[in-house]
Amino acid sequence: MTTATIERSPSQAVAEIGQAPPLLRVSNLSKWYGHVVGCRDVSFELRPGEVLGIVGESGSGKTTLLNAISGRLPPTSGVVEFDTSRFGLANIYALNEPDRRRMQREEWGFVHQNPRDGLRMRVSGGANVAEPLMNLGNRHYGQMRRATLEWLDRVELDTSRIDDKPRNFSGGMQQRIQVARNLIHGPRLVFMDEPTGGLDVSVQARLLDLLRELVRDLGLAVIIVTHDMAVARLMAHRLIVMKSGYVVETGLTDQVLDDPQHPYSQLLVSSVLQI
Ligand SMILES: Nc1ncnc2c1ncn2[C@@H]1O[C@H](COP(=O)(O)OP(=O)(O)OP(=O)(O)O)[C@@H](O)[C@H]1O
Ligand SMILES: [Mg+2]
Repeated sequence: MTTATIERSPSQAVAEIGQAPPLLRVSNLSKWYGHVVGCRDVSFELRPGEVLGIVGESGSGKTTLLNAISGRLPPTSGVVEFDTSRFGLANIYALNEPDRRRMQREEWGFVHQNPRDGLRMRVSGGANVAEPLMNLGNRHYGQMRRATLEWLDRVELDTSRIDDKPRNFSGGMQQRIQVARNLIHGPRLVFMDEPTGGLDVSVQARLLDLLRELVRDLGLAVIIVTHDMAVARLMAHRLIVMKSGYVVETGLTDQVLDDPQHPYSQLLVSSVLQI
């Protein structure tokens, strides 16, 4: 007897996220680089367990927006509020620097497109994975080693290579180390900038499957930047479509991809645009 599994798309699962209070609230956020616009007047809310995709052509402002909302790039105007465990909903740029850094370390993760930007290349893969625990004050070596082995296994890496340096791993493996490093401390929100962008197509597909599984199993809230509509479809409940720094369309992933309303989204989805 065969059993059929009905695979639900992330946007069908969005109803289950319900009406929980927002984890993140972005209001009228703009970032200018002198006279060059990065992003302008962006507002949205993100709920716990929700995966938001930011899509748009090159130069549309995706990375600028991600960096501004993740506390890495102070905006020119607008507010980013996060439901911190210590202070409740707080304007992240109004927190003092040590509090903001602590909140980022404790409650967030950030997966870079290039693993070199997210890993310390001089220390072992295992040390890279364990470091966030040490940064949070964990001093129990045995416990950290166990957690590291568990996470290496979870991201499907050979645990016997725990002491190898990142440069001895392939690009896809380095990205898995980066994923483990960013999840081991149990963040509530993870930012990802083109996490599969620099990888071969077959490696991309496997990493994407893994990310999807982890996000679902851990009930993580994620903001993921991608120019790849297939990645957006697989990962995101909701999408924000950006053009020239503006959000031109937002909605459930299936709606935006299957029935785009804005002419630019229509071009983007039909892949007429070179992105
Ligand atoms: N540090 C900077 N200084 C000046 N201008 C910048 C800087 N970073 C980004 N920009 C400009 O801001 C705009 C948005 O860039 P951004 O990198 O956010 O786009 P993106 O959507 O992430 O593009 P890509 O898909 O190529 O990564 C572009 O016009 C870019 O040239
Ligand atoms: Mg970018």
